[in-house]
Amino acid sequence: TKKIILDCDPGHDDALAMTLAVASPKIELLAVTTSAGNQTPDKTLNNAMRMLKLLGREDIPVAGGNRTPLVKPLETAGEVHGESGLDGYPLPEPDFQPVELTAIELIAKTLKESATPVTLVVTGPMTNAALFLRVYPELAKAKIDQIVYMGGAMGLGNWQPSVEFNIFVDPEAAKIVMNFGIPLVMAPLNVTHQAQILKPEIEALRQIKNPVGQAFYGLLSFFERYHENPKWGFQGAPLHDPCTIAWLIEPEMFQTEKMNVDVETTGELTRGETVCDYYELTGKPQNTEVMLGINRQRFIELIMEALHSFD
Ligand code: BDR
Ligand code: CA
Repeated sequence: TKKIILDCDPGHDDALAMTLAVASPKIELLAVTTSAGNQTPDKTLNNAMRMLKLLGREDIPVAGGNRTPLVKPLETAGEVHGESGLDGYPLPEPDFQPVELTAIELIAKTLKESATPVTLVVTGPMTNAALFLRVYPELAKAKIDQIVYMGGAMGLGNWQPSVEFNIFVDPEAAKIVMNFGIPLVMAPLNVTHQAQILKPEIEALRQIKNPVGQAFYGLLSFFERYHENPKWGFQGAPLHDPCTIAWLIEPEMFQTEKMNVDVETTGELTRGETVCDYYELTGKPQNTEVMLGINRQRFIELIMEALHSFD
């Protein structure tokens, strides 16, 4: 099994990433930390806890992270994820507490307690990840084998013409993480926009009678509505964040390329753009394995299996 820490900002697709991780026998979810992003920090923390309760995994320690990005003021994505950050289904309110540690303290504790390397999965802005690497660089190098993240794109944007939301929120944090030296695996928009759940597949979730399936029927129906605008050209909703967990479970599902990826932090039009050196023009180290293709059919099967595992 692969041990992971999930740093997320739930968020509909973050919630599904968490669910895939909990459902998979190949993954051991050691801890969850939350970032400010899709919604304010209190809401994303509460959403992570509501999800763990739904999944029956209140035993997994949770901690809230930094309240703002490193440099920029926080901007959230209420139009995508709703007022709560997880609109579309009345999730149970948690009856447990987050641990009395900050996110980076929980990451440190979890790594120290693990005898073997741990993968850090980041599905929100990289604020916590960057702070962790700055405060605990030696521990990070000794214990984190790779950082798998959803963020950025090669030549696309979903928040600004060339800027993806997670990197948009905290570009300075992303720059720290990308230049730290731990191997990175990136799920950019190029792959996550292929990782769509189609409208009839969302409809089919209604037939999954367990509480987790029912919740995702409501949640993804809500999430899909934002993506109905024809400007995107979608036939459903892109499941960005679950690509990270799917890659850990079944990497054969993806086509990847290694290259250098860095972040623009000063551009007039491009602050937060991920600069992907596909043709090795810079000679800089290939710090990132970039997902570029996915077997969508298999990805959806994996999600359906995961949701049915709660029967
Ligand atoms: C990313 O932004 C968030 O809204 C999603 O949860 C995902 O992590 C996609 O750009
Ligand atoms: Ca997210």
